[in-house]
Amino acid sequence: MSGSNPTRSVALKILHVAAECYPWLKTGGLADVIGALPSAQCAQGMDARILLPGFPAIRAGLIDAKRVAVMPPRFVAECVLWQGRLPDNTPVYVIDAPSLFDRPGNPYADGDQRPYPDNHRRFALLGWVAVQLAAGHLADWRPDVLHAHDWHAGLASAYLKHAALLRGVKPATSVFTVHNLAYQGLFPAYIFGELGLPGNFFQYDGLEFHGQLSFIKSGLQFSDRIATVSPSYAREIQSVEHGCGLDGLLRYRAADLTGILNGVDAASWNPASDPALPGHFDAEKTVGKARCKASLQKELGLAGAPNALLFGVVSRLTEQKGLHLILAGMWKIIAQGGQLMVLGSGEAELEAGFKQMELDYPGSVVVRLGFEESLSHRIFAGADVVLVPSRFEPCGLTQMYGMRYGALPLVRRTGGLADTVVDCTLENLADGTACGFVFERFEQADFDAAVQRAFVLHAKPTQWREVRRHAMGRQFDWTAPALAYEALYRAAMQAGAA
Ligand code: ADP
Ligand code: GLC
Repeated sequence: MSGSNPTRSVALKILHVAAECYPWLKTGGLADVIGALPSAQCAQGMDARILLPGFPAIRAGLIDAKRVAVMPPRFVAECVLWQGRLPDNTPVYVIDAPSLFDRPGNPYADGDQRPYPDNHRRFALLGWVAVQLAAGHLADWRPDVLHAHDWHAGLASAYLKHAALLRGVKPATSVFTVHNLAYQGLFPAYIFGELGLPGNFFQYDGLEFHGQLSFIKSGLQFSDRIATVSPSYAREIQSVEHGCGLDGLLRYRAADLTGILNGVDAASWNPASDPALPGHFDAEKTVGKARCKASLQKELGLAGAPNALLFGVVSRLTEQKGLHLILAGMWKIIAQGGQLMVLGSGEAELEAGFKQMELDYPGSVVVRLGFEESLSHRIFAGADVVLVPSRFEPCGLTQMYGMRYGALPLVRRTGGLADTVVDCTLENLADGTACGFVFERFEQADFDAAVQRAFVLHAKPTQWREVRRHAMGRQFDWTAPALAYEALYRAAMQAGAA
């Protein structure tokens, strides 16, 4: 039970707990969400703050940093809490524990992509500090709601539950958002003793998962409410096919599980003012988009063909993203005069596959391996179609960025892709709802047919422009999700207070 007053007039205090945050540190969509949702909540009158591990990029980025507390030893001897803000003024707490976090590059793995052997300590500390803040041990400010994101923050819910057992009162209401159930934070059972939790937390109704220890299960088991990032994914993860072994628990908790679709941060993603773009445009005036396309073709070394259908991919190169369909279907795109640009990094096999394709189709395919924020914006602005053929996709942001920047998304009907893209069927074209191309099964023939539909529509410029105008006008801003989360917090607080 939270000690706070769950009425509408009182500003809700929310602590978001996560491992990444745009613009400081980003490996995927989680960072975009953490960089935007708390700020949207502040704009709605809530007092939302963020707690992050002190990775070098985060410590370097923190604005107006001041020391808040020196923490008692836990997992590490030296640990200081700082408070500062994001460029948009959202308050941020940062855990400065150099021996755990002061490592260059990827926040989760070393230069050879091996997860750090002390990841359990690094992310247990994140959850533990969140609960110290919630309990009022570290600062004057205490959240009503502790909102943890993904496995990295999953242990916060277990520590909160433990604190409640010790005191008879829960320091805060807990909400856990699953951004991707496939990443679970699994560790060998023998590390349990380091976590400082009583033995009964390592049971089938606790952190234990097939003999291992699961951080994501902590979030699913012990949080008052569970959210995920689209309504379709909320349904899918209750099935054996998409449940990653946790579908039983998710079905058990179905009444507490909800899907809230992510938004798009209009300040960072606006083709009318984006500083990364060589030309600006909006749904009504698209001349600037043609300039972006020509300039991108030149920048990347693609043939300067204004009418070539230009496909773009901005993605982690992982199994999840279904990119094999592009590799196998590419020759058909090339045969029709299409072009492709890929920006991504990840699995060696996919990186090699795309690099080979670049060699096979010089001037028509360009592949950039790496992570480049500003180039990603230019790709959405320059492309005609953005490809997201995922096997599964909890929400997906690139299809929404594509729409906003006038690149029609071509997606598989799964998760958040199903919830955001309306296929160019004849009916949908007729009633003006079409905004992209959707295929059903994860089969080459289905993908190829969707690509074919894109070529057919592109050959009808008036209709193409009409669909693009509609796609660009779609509203995916963060206001609705910010309010949906507020309703979820209040319902959880009321249930806790009852
Ligand atoms: P996921 O979180 O599963 O990777 P999302 O579509 O939710 O997928 O979010 C991916 C985010 O990361 C988007 O902001 C996308 O533009 C960005 N992104 C992915 N790969 C790259 C890259 N190589 N360079 C720049 N941005 C990238
Ligand atoms: C995850 C998912 C992606 C989602 C993102 C932000 O990384 O893979 O679908 O958009 O989180 O919620």
